[in-house]
Amino acid sequence: MNFSYNSGFKIQNVSFKLEEKIICGLTGNNGSGKTTLLRLLVGLLKPKSGNVKIFNNLLTRNKQELWKIRKSIGFLFQNPDDQLFAPTIEEDISFGPRNLKLEEEEVRARVDWALEAVNLSEFKNFSPFNLSWGQRKRAALAGLLAMKPKLLILDEPFANLDFKSIYNHLIILEKLRKENEITIFFTSHNLFFVEHWAEKMLFLDEGKIFFNGTPREGLGNSNVKQLLGSYDDILSLIKKSY
Ligand SMILES: Nc1ncnc2c1ncn2[C@@H]1O[C@H](COP(=O)(O)OP(=O)(O)OP(=O)(O)O)[C@@H](O)[C@H]1O
Ligand SMILES: [Mg+2]
Repeated sequence: MNFSYNSGFKIQNVSFKLEEKIICGLTGNNGSGKTTLLRLLVGLLKPKSGNVKIFNNLLTRNKQELWKIRKSIGFLFQNPDDQLFAPTIEEDISFGPRNLKLEEEEVRARVDWALEAVNLSEFKNFSPFNLSWGQRKRAALAGLLAMKPKLLILDEPFANLDFKSIYNHLIILEKLRKENEITIFFTSHNLFFVEHWAEKMLFLDEGKIFFNGTPREGLGNSNVKQLLGSYDDILSLIKKSY
């Protein structure tokens, strides 16, 4: 697949297959094209050449076809402000299940469950404007959970969150994996999650896939390490000696 923005940035010859029921981490430096690639995968951007298949269905520009595929995908935007649009988070979270034409009782049950899962039940009547950034990200995740998708595409699901929220997100995601056998494709700059949570790793550099394999191999690869930098480099720069 190929894509380019008017700014000149290009996604070049990106080709990969994601196995079902696994967790795959997409990493790469700021501006390497991770968000762009995710937007191509969910049909928010159109490739210049090549195509995307999700569960063997070709992503098309036909709105009805696209909706059928989208129903099985939950896409978490990097910035929750691109995702939340309703006056209250409760309304926001109910939008997806209502679009699935579920019974009102089922919609209510899913919304309550999703709010509870991200620890935001007491904020359900809040406007997204009156929530903190991390709370907005959690509300956005709740919106996906309420759709019960088979594939979660998560753009920086752990960035800007406190440890307790990360822990809580992981509990929910792992529970969904066990119960519904979902597939997770997430981006992260934080190699901790790529190393310890992902089963597969993709490393994007300047819009090209530089590495595709296991985190162990990828994070052990000296070229990848050099491009990514490390905590050790930072530590050696700032560590105080007393
Ligand atoms: N809408 C746009 N129009 C033109 N150029 C864009 C647009 N969005 C992103 N870009 C450019 O594409 C490149 C890749 O951006 P992208 O957001 O995909 O990177 P990223 O890997 O997700 O970065 P980060 O780690 O900061 O989230 C950047 O150089 C950016 O300037
Ligand atoms: Mg990004």
